[in-house]
This record gives sequence, structure tokens and C-alpha cells, in this order.
Amino acid sequence: MSQLLSRISAIVSDRGGVARALKLALDRPAAVAQAVRRLAEKDWRTLAGGSQANASELQTELRQSGLVDALNTRLKDEFSALAGQMVRGKEAVPGGMRTLHAELLWVIVRSQKPKTIVETGVCNGLSSAVLLEAIAKNGSGFLVSVDLPEFTDAQLNKFDVWDGKGGAAIPAGKDVGWLVRPEHRPSWRLELGRCQELLPPLLEELTPIDLFIHDSEHSYDNQLFEFRAGFEALRPGGVLVATDITWSDAFDHFWLEIKGTGAERAFVDPSCAIVIKR
Ligand SMILES: C[S@@+](CC[C@H](N)C(=O)[O-])C[C@H]1O[C@@H](n2cnc3c(N)ncnc32)[C@H](O)[C@@H]1O
Repeated sequence: MSQLLSRISAIVSDRGGVARALKLALDRPAAVAQAVRRLAEKDWRTLAGGSQANASELQTELRQSGLVDALNTRLKDEFSALAGQMVRGKEAVPGGMRTLHAELLWVIVRSQKPKTIVETGVCNGLSSAVLLEAIAKNGSGFLVSVDLPEFTDAQLNKFDVWDGKGGAAIPAGKDVGWLVRPEHRPSWRLELGRCQELLPPLLEELTPIDLFIHDSEHSYDNQLFEFRAGFEALRPGGVLVATDITWSDAFDHFWLEIKGTGAERAFVDPSCAIVIKR
């Protein structure tokens, strides 16, 4: 119980404080009840890092490296110069994953030392940079990333994106994944295009994979498609990371399909889950 309360209080303070949490509880009581149920499940650190102690040590390793802070500072500097620029009527934002989710990736890669990692959703490259830094520290592993990029300069946008997409974009003059250090590029393959088209042949080529991360189009159809395809491509013991699962019911529906297989899950916070294939 005390662990549940401390997880809830960490999330409340991270997301704008008690007043905002109370407003959410009044506006969307079912979502809040679901969030509390999720947080009451097993601790994600055990699944991601083998034990809570090992995971906490690896979280400290990443924090002390200053990597995520440095990446966020670079993003902030770049985006403050954009001063409210819009993409498709939405404010252009860096779209980088939350620090706790980056820590989750770090803990998984540093403790489980996956050889083949597939991620969807690169944008400016915060998650890719963290994954590749962990791969470099391990001394082995390879990352394959898929992204359908959206640039603040509309002339560069070659593909139509999902209507529900927010303003995550790449600033003028920058390439997809520009946060990735040049010396890490030999361990990285970047495929540009729609996940729905690129993932099936890619996963067929790479199967079995050790880690799959979804952070691209958060529509119900695409999330369900990616969770199914990524999970199927995992080896037994492999890990699936599902971000932004509050955007649709896809994760709950996917879990109903696989929970009888012995798969285990944990929630990092109400919007992000980790699933281990057994
Ligand atoms: C939230 S951002 C990814 C952020 C990244 N993981 C990070 O931590 O910096 C989502 C990215 O997915 C891309 N995207 C949107 N729809 C997509 C699709 N159908 N297939 C592939 N990528 C898509 C977006 O353009 C954007 O670049």
C-alpha cells in the first residue's frame, strides 16, 4: 500500500500537482480508477531489471550520466527558437519520451543486454540516443528504428500522417534522429516510412528479436497492430514496451489476447507498460 501511494504521489507531482489530479478525478473518474489499478500491479523494476535493487542502480547510473538532461536541454534550445510554430494547426513540440520511460529503456538494455532491438517512432531521436548509448556501454547490440517523420518545414513532409497525431516534429535544418551521436550510427539502422507498411517485412527479416518498443502512431488500429506484430517477433523472454497506452484501448485488448500465454506485465506509470513473453 505504501508503495502504491508513493508511486501515485510521484506521478501527481510530475503531472502538475494535486489540483490537476483532483480535476482529472472529477472529469474522468474511470481513467483515474484504471490508473490506480495499473499502479497497484507488480513493480516494473523487477520485470525490467531482474530485481528492484538492480533496476534502481541502473536508473541512478543513467541519472548520474546526465544524458537525458543533456538531450532535453538540446531539444529545449532548439524548440525555444521556434516560438510557437505550428504543424497542421498544432504547436510544434519535440515529442521526446518522458524521463521515466527513457529510464525504463536504459534499465532493460543495460540489464538484459538485448542483441536486436526494434523501435517505432524516432522524431528528434531522444529514445534512440538513449538506447544507442546503452548499447555502446554494453559493447553489443543493434537498434533498428522506423519513423514517418513530420518536419516543421511543411515542404519536407512527404507522407500524410494520422489525423490524431499531435505536434511532435523535427525543426528546420535537422534530420530524423539528430540527437543520436555520430559514433553510434554504425549500431543503428533507420527506416523511413509508415510502420504499417515497413514493420511486417522488417520483423520477418529480424525475427526473433529481443526488445520491441512502440512510440509512433498512437491510433487504436496501429497500436494493436504493432503490439501484435512486435510481440509475435519476440523470442521467449523478450520484452515489449508500449508507450502512450492511454491514447486508445489497444493495450487492454492486446493483453486479453496474450495473457493466457504466461506473458507477464507491469506498468511503469498509467501510460506505459512492459510485457515479457514467456
Ligand atoms: C512521439 S514521437 C517519437 C519520439 C521518440 N520515441 C523520442 O523519444 O524522441 C512519434 C514519432 O512517430 C512518427 N509517426 C507517426 N505516425 C507514424 C507511422 N504510422 N509510422 C511510423 N512513424 C510514425 C511521428 O511522426 C514521430 O516522429
